[in-house]
Amino acid sequence: MDIPDTLVRKSEEIFFSFPPERRESALVPLMFEAQRELGCITPDTEHWIAETVGVSLVKVREVLTFYSMLRRERAEKFLVQFCRNISCCLAGAEDLQRHVEKKLGIRNGETTADGLFTLRYVECLGGCSWAPMMLVNEMQYYQLTPEKLDRIIEGFRSGRPVPPDEPTPLLGNVGEKIAV
Ligand code: FES
Repeated sequence: MDIPDTLVRKSEEIFFSFPPERRESALVPLMFEAQRELGCITPDTEHWIAETVGVSLVKVREVLTFYSMLRRERAEKFLVQFCRNISCCLAGAEDLQRHVEKKLGIRNGETTADGLFTLRYVECLGGCSWAPMMLVNEMQYYQLTPEKLDRIIEGFRSGRPVPPDEPTPLLGNVGEKIAV
């Protein structure tokens, strides 16, 4: 397959940040970079990655199917990945799921009629301390409320996305909800 020059150059930069004997450590960053560049990781891209990194195709496939942030098919414009694991559920994710389904008019795995949003429920997204959380493409949003969700969705709809949240030392949300 034809790999864009920009991706080849980027892969060289990624390899440069690891010691030569740790080339395999570049696997995950390279997969994310390939996805950013190409929209998803197709079987052809898997082959290129395996060859470039020097690992087996099986290894690439294992990583690809393990991380829900990595995609094998091109998503619609905005892929909303909503966490439904324990910390997020304790902080109200189930109510928020109903809210987001109503707001978008779709359920898990579906895409809105205008092709803008695809909704996918996933397991832990690694932001439990700031639960409940979701990703829109690669932008993370923490401590969601119905109002914040509405603002985020409208931001993407209008082409003026709400800036993603940065993790902070705040841990209050989950504890507060449990204490209620
Ligand atoms: S449980 Fe939702 S981010 Fe970990």
